[in-house]
Amino acid sequence: MPTKVVMGAQWGDEGKGKVIDILAGQSDVVVRSQGGNNAGHTVVAGGEEYKLHLIPSGILYPETLCLIGNGVVVDPKVLLEEIDMLTAKGVDVSNLRVDARAHVILPYHIALDGLSEKARGSAEIGTTKRGIGPCYMDKAERSGIRMHEFIDEALFRRRFKENLDMKNLFIEKVYNEKPLKYEDYIEEYVGYAKRLAPYVTDCTVLLYDAIKAGKKVLFEGAQATLLDIDLGTYPYVTSSHPVSGGVCIGAGVGPTVIDECIGVVKAYTTRVGKGPFPTELFDETGDLIRNRGGEFGTTTGRPRRTGWFDAVIVKFAVRTSGLTSIAVNKIDTLANLGEIKLCSGYKYKGQIITDFPYSLDILAECEPVYETMPGWEGDISNIKSYDELPQNAKNYIRRIEELCDVKVSMVGIGPDRTQILEK
Ligand code: GDP
Ligand code: IMO
Ligand code: MG
Repeated sequence: MPTKVVMGAQWGDEGKGKVIDILAGQSDVVVRSQGGNNAGHTVVAGGEEYKLHLIPSGILYPETLCLIGNGVVVDPKVLLEEIDMLTAKGVDVSNLRVDARAHVILPYHIALDGLSEKARGSAEIGTTKRGIGPCYMDKAERSGIRMHEFIDEALFRRRFKENLDMKNLFIEKVYNEKPLKYEDYIEEYVGYAKRLAPYVTDCTVLLYDAIKAGKKVLFEGAQATLLDIDLGTYPYVTSSHPVSGGVCIGAGVGPTVIDECIGVVKAYTTRVGKGPFPTELFDETGDLIRNRGGEFGTTTGRPRRTGWFDAVIVKFAVRTSGLTSIAVNKIDTLANLGEIKLCSGYKYKGQIITDFPYSLDILAECEPVYETMPGWEGDISNIKSYDELPQNAKNYIRRIEELCDVKVSMVGIGPDRTQILEK
């Protein structure tokens, strides 16, 4: 298996965790390169469900090296909770490593995420309030604290105090809220640093050596194309680069090492948080898909907004990430709907466009253009091969391939790692 990137090609929660878990079974190294615990990746194996936020979804295989790359923002408390959760379930985490350059999410980032959202009022982004944006802000502003500084106790005590004093100016003077007290946090976080220190290393070296030795490497995307800070529906985006190019910077590898980019999509579309969503359904079909597909956030529990498959956005993901194939999950959720709609383009000022607009003002004037296809009946969640899919489901997949200009390599028919059809 060559070096593969697996990434979200819609607005997140496409079932990346499941696809990564499946491919991780044939991989030596699994690497997260961006985002933080805003991600929620579900893996179902042997009847057990694992919700992972920071630890790569390869962790269920004891031999697989799991790396948290330099581009990830790490909440030490959440990481330790996840380590403890996995250990309690009998999962060995001794092959986990965290890059020394990764930035650390601290209590003031979480406080500021909540305060800035509150200040935005009805214009809020709908963030996960996990401190992701404020932590990346500090990184860009060059005041952030990285893992290697976090585990240097004397240095961390000093830097935490300096940063907290500065953040408290904002908290008190801009947001009129009570400051955070250094004494309330410092010993707790020094304790987290001591526990995490054995995991901290230079992951770029481990990765380089693994690739040179011919090991199979899988890059685990978090979030998705439309949440990319440059290419997504700005400002309703996250603060990192979930597109395939983000892997290079966030894991410290060159683009020449990547052989395949697999985009993960759902057979329909969902989104959590605010922002435009052209194919959103507000009727009982939307409710039906939400309930049947269990569309409630893995991280925040929020109901996900649901809508028909939008080929314009997936084609955009194909173009901006150089996708070599896509995995289409949750085709089982669309069974027994009678007819299925698929958005093939947008009507804008009387013209049909199929390239996703760069501006939300243009997007607001776009109307989805639908093709209606006959649906399929029955439970398909236990079939064993692509050939066994009902013909109408195969026709739907073929139309997705045509409209998105990419081949479908996998089709998901249920949450378990066994419920995938190779195409
Ligand atoms: P991720 O963030 O992309 O990893 O996706 P999430 O884990 O947040 O959300 C995907 C949800 O769909 C999870 O509950 C998965 O267990 C579930 N899932 C994944 N693939 C399939 C599928 O093919 N069919 C069904 N019914 N559920 C799936
Ligand atoms: P996975 O990896 C879906 C969304 C939030 C919000 C916006 C900004 O599970 O697919 P942030 O907290 O990142 O500043 O929030 O991004 N968001 C996600 N939506 N899946 C995710 O991750 C997401 N991570 C962030 O809902 O709209
Ligand atoms: Mg998710």
